[in-house]
Parts: sequence; C-alpha cells; structure tokens
Amino acid sequence: MIPLPRKFRTNIKETFGEKGRLWLKDLPGKLDEICHIWNLTECRPVNDLSFNYVCTARSDRFGPVVLKIGVESSELENEFRSLRYLKSMHLCRGLAFDSERNAMLLERVTPGENLFSLDSPEEQIKAGASLLKDNENTETIPQGFPYYGDWLKRSFQKTRNKRAGTTTVDAFFKKAEIYWLEQANRLPETLNHGDFHHMNILRNENREWTVIDPQGVIGYQTADCGRFILNQLGRTDNENRSELLTEMSRVFAEALKTTEELVLKGAYIEQMLSCSWTLEGFISEEKERDIIEKMEAADRLYSSILNAPQGIEG
Ligand SMILES: Nc1ncnc2c1ncn2[C@@H]1O[C@H](COP(=O)(O)OP(=O)(O)O)[C@@H](O)[C@H]1O
Ligand SMILES: [Mg+2]
Repeated sequence: MIPLPRKFRTNIKETFGEKGRLWLKDLPGKLDEICHIWNLTECRPVNDLSFNYVCTARSDRFGPVVLKIGVESSELENEFRSLRYLKSMHLCRGLAFDSERNAMLLERVTPGENLFSLDSPEEQIKAGASLLKDNENTETIPQGFPYYGDWLKRSFQKTRNKRAGTTTVDAFFKKAEIYWLEQANRLPETLNHGDFHHMNILRNENREWTVIDPQGVIGYQTADCGRFILNQLGRTDNENRSELLTEMSRVFAEALKTTEELVLKGAYIEQMLSCSWTLEGFISEEKERDIIEKMEAADRLYSSILNAPQGIEG
C-alpha cells in the first residue's frame, strides 16, 4: 500500500465512485509496472495531489521527470496531445505515454514553485495574463479535442437530472447558458488550456513560467481567464473580492483584446461549471449545501459588477 493523503482518496471516490475505489486499489501495482517499464527510480508523490496520482522520479533516459497516472484515459490522452498542440503557450514537454496503465511521463519543471510564490495578487495576475495573451491558436484548430460547450451541456444536464424538482441551481445554469451564447456570438474559437490556474504555472530554471496540466479543450479564451480568476478569488477575503474581480476583468480584457463584460461572463460560466462538476459527483449533503451557497455568493458578486439582476433575470 502506498501512503496517500486522505483528501486525495476522498477526491477520487467523490468524483469517480466505484471506478475510483478500484483505481486506488490497483494503483500500487500499476506504479510498480510502469516504473519497471520506464526505468524510473526515486519516485516521490507531490504534495498537492488532486485527481491524478503524480510523483517526481528519476529516469535513466531523461533525468528528472514527473510521472502522472490518471483515472479517466481520455483525459490523460488529451493532456498528452495538448502538450504538442498548444504551441504558443510555454508548456512542459511530454516524454512518453502508456495507454494500458493510463500513465504519462513529463519533463520535470525545476525548481517548480508555482505562481502563488509571487508576492502580490497584482504580480500573479499580470504574469497569468501575459501567458494567456500568447495563446493565439485561432488559425487551425486540431481535430479530436473536446468542446467546452459539450462540457457545459453534459455537466448541467447531469446535475439537473440529479436535482430534479429543485430550482436554485437551474436559475444559475440558465444564466450561464445565456452568457455562453453571447460568448459564442462574439468571440473566436481556440484550443484552450482548460485548467489554467496558479498551481499549473511553474517556475523553470531560467526563471520563466512553464505551464503544465493542459486539458486541451476547444472554446473561448475567456474560459481560461475564468479558471484563473476563480482560483485567485479563492485566495481573497470576501470584502476584497469585488475590487479584485473588477481589476482582473480589466487586465485580462486588455491582454485578450476583448471586453471586461465578456471576461466576467466567461468567469461566471466557469464558476457554475466547476460547481456543477462537484454537484454531479458522489458528495455528502453537507458538501452539496456548501456548493449551493458558493453559487449564490458568486451570483451576487458577479451580478453586482455586471449590473445584472440576481438569478435568471440577468
Ligand atoms: N512537469 C512537472 N514538473 C514539476 N512539477 C509538476 C509537473 N507536473 C506536475 N507537477 C506537480 O504535481 C502537481 C499535480 O500535477 P498536475 O499535472 O497539475 O495534476 P492534476 O491534473 O491532478 O492537477 C502540480 O501542481 C505540480 O506541483
Ligand atoms: Mg493541476
């Protein structure tokens, strides 16, 4: 048995249910096999495990590497492909993929401290915006990647089915769907990172920022901003959120040459999608209540800045 943090085990079980339980049971065996196949030694799990098993290791061929083993095969395969296709963003290199064990070998970014290591939120936001600015993949969108619009449709439907007969969440979903259509009418589609946030942006030995963990999803760049914005707000006191959100919409709108309104609406959609993913999982009633409160608070916050009525009327 490899020692795994309780939070990680809970994450896996809440998200994947029985499939996750089995995956946790098989993990030590898979890890042994893949270390043997790829000649890896000195495997040490990273501190911030979330939905995949990730460890640093030494490869006899590549030197310092990171090994990632996932539950969902399509997600990890997409990640490996996006490392090649998201050319204009500075991403870490993918070195090998094993579809049988759903494992991937990556160049290790060292020293690897993440964007939260910068002192102020202003510096973090500036660095994040400048990385996104470089990601202009509008010309040819490669085939075979998922669509953000499908992510929305699928997750909202699942959560709606699970919560049939209740109304609160549905109002927020409807609003997010209206905002989504506005994005579709006004923005070009691009291949996006899909999980662009501070913990996926690491410092390399030249003191430049390297981006890791792309999901590879076709949609609008405001979704990548949205993920970053949510993560930043998560580290911000309640009373400062409104001011910081306004500032972030300004900085990201400038970087992407779009409007603050579209950035804010992209972040609203992303907030509701992220909550829907949690709600559709195998979670406790207490956690469900927390998530709904989070959605209500977010709706109040975004409505006040966008000057929109709360709930569906917006
Ligand atoms: N290529 C890499 N170089 C250095 N550290 C990495 C690398 N990939 C992942 N990590 C570390 O492992 C953590 C989890 O990896 P990540 O790919 O983000 O997994 P998840 O998809 O579960 O979020 C990261 O936050 C980072 O600390
Ligand atoms: Mg990550």
